[in-house]
Amino acid sequence: HWTAEEKAAITSVWQKVNLEQDGHEALTRLLVVYPWTQRYFSSFGNLTNVTAVAGNAKVRAHGKKVLSAVGDAITHLDNVKGTLHDLSEIHAFKLHVDPENFKRLGEVLVIVLASKLGSAFTPQIQGAWEKFVAVLVDALSQGYN
Ligand code: HEM
Repeated sequence: HWTAEEKAAITSVWQKVNLEQDGHEALTRLLVVYPWTQRYFSSFGNLTNVTAVAGNAKVRAHGKKVLSAVGDAITHLDNVKGTLHDLSEIHAFKLHVDPENFKRLGEVLVIVLASKLGSAFTPQIQGAWEKFVAVLVDALSQGYN
């Protein structure tokens, strides 16, 4: 259900992503913009302000893990659901993450990509990414059904 243009838009942007740096920024934005998400990461230490989150090595390491899983989905665009099946179950049954938060992470990820690419993040590229984020959120939410 992807056009060749959509696939190219998603993979070409992903080639420019730095998993650790951009993952850290996305997770930082999640924790600061939507502070209720901090409750899931109580083992990560102090996350109460932007300076603490930005300097937190656990947030950095975890941001890289999250974006690696996104990259895994991107290399399997025709089977995102199957690729993220186990990860979805972990978030549902073990971590008890409210699936609404997957949308929030998708939103901050698009903002990180847009600020990184500037005018190269064209409306057409944004359109493909919004569609990918919807597929990503749907795949991560499957374990809740
Ligand atoms: C763990 C990916 C969204 C909370 C993980 C792990 C991955 C991952 C790969 C490691 C799983 C393992 O250890 O086997 C993702 C992806 C997301 C996403 C791809 C969305 C695009 C979220 C959101 C939250 C969340 C929105 C909460 C607001 C957690 C927590 C852990 C975890 C608490 C365990 C952290 C730890 O103690 O090490 N996630 N995640 N995740 N995720 Fe997510």
